[in-house]
Amino acid sequence: MNQTVHIPVMLEETMLGLEVRAGGIWVDGTLGGGSHTRALLERSAPDGIVYSFDVDPNALARAKETLKEFGDRFQAVEANFRNLDDRLAERGVMSVDGILLDLGVSSDEIVDSSKGLSFMTEGPLDMRLGPKANEDGLTAADIVNTWKPNEIEQLIREFGEEKFARHIVDVIVTARKSSRITRTTELASLIRQAVPKGYERGRIHPATRTFQALRIAVNDEFESLKEAIDGSHRILTPGGKLAVIAFHSLEDRIVKVAFKDKERWEPITKRPQEPTEAEVQKNSRSRSAKLRVARKVQ
Ligand SMILES: C[S@@+](CC[C@H](N)C(=O)[O-])C[C@H]1O[C@@H](n2cnc3c(N)ncnc32)[C@H](O)[C@@H]1O
Repeated sequence: MNQTVHIPVMLEETMLGLEVRAGGIWVDGTLGGGSHTRALLERSAPDGIVYSFDVDPNALARAKETLKEFGDRFQAVEANFRNLDDRLAERGVMSVDGILLDLGVSSDEIVDSSKGLSFMTEGPLDMRLGPKANEDGLTAADIVNTWKPNEIEQLIREFGEEKFARHIVDVIVTARKSSRITRTTELASLIRQAVPKGYERGRIHPATRTFQALRIAVNDEFESLKEAIDGSHRILTPGGKLAVIAFHSLEDRIVKVAFKDKERWEPITKRPQEPTEAEVQKNSRSRSAKLRVARKVQ
C-alpha cells in the first residue's frame, strides 16, 4: 500500500482545541492520510478508541496498514460523515468525546489521476471521492455535458467564486455540441481559452475555481457538512467538542453560522484560528485553512 503524501494541517491546534486526553471515544470524520487520526490515537492512549470515516476506499485501506500498531483502538469506517451519528449508533456507540472534520480532499486524492480532481493531470472528468461520496452517481462530466448553461454558470459563480463564469460556460456549451467533454485536461484547456490572458495575474491556474466548484457539487460538500454538524451535535456528549478545518469561505461560513446557535454550541474560537506563517511556509496548501472549535452545550 502506498505511503500518504498528505501533510496534516493545524495538527497541534486541533488536538489542543479538542482537548484530547487519555481514554474516551474520538471521531475523525475525514481520515485522509491518517495523521490526525494517529495523533488522536497517540493522545488518547492507552485505551481511547478512534472511529475514522472516509468515503475514499484507498484512504481506508492505507490507514489499516499504517495504523495497524493501534489494533482495535483504531476503527476505520467507510461512510460519508453526513451520517456519522447513524453509522456510530450501528456500532453501538451512543456518545463520543470529540469530533474532527478536516474538510475537502487530501493530496493523495489530488495526485490520483483516476479521480479526475486535478486540471494538471490527464484523467476522467469524474471527481467523486469514492462510491459513497454521493447517492446519485453524479460526475463532473454529467454536470458539464447535461446541465443547463445557466445552472452551470450559477454553480461556477457561487461555489467557485469565479467572475468569468459566463465566459467559461459559453466555451463549454459550444464544445459539448460537437462531442461530450470527458477528460480533465480537455476541460482545463477550454477554460484557459475562455478567460482573459493574465488571468488573476497568473497567481492561480484559470481552471482552479471551476474545478473546485465541480468537486463541491459532485460530492455535495456543503449539504454533507451541514448534516455532519447536526449529527455531531446529536452524538457528542454534553461538553464534548467539534473541531472543523475549512478551506473555502462558504464552508467556513456554514460552520460559523451553525456555531452561532447558542442553545447548541458554545464557540471556543471566537474568530477562526489560522495556520502560523511557519506552517504556511512548509505547506502552502494550509494557507486558506480556518479552524473553528465549539463545545456542545446540551
Ligand atoms: C483534507 S483530507 C483529511 C486529511 C487528514 N486529516 C490527514 O491528516 O491526513 C479530507 C478527507 O476527507 C474525505 N472526505 C471528504 N468528504 C467526506 C465525507 N463527506 N465523508 C467522509 N469522508 C470525506 C476525503 O476523501 C479525504 O480523504
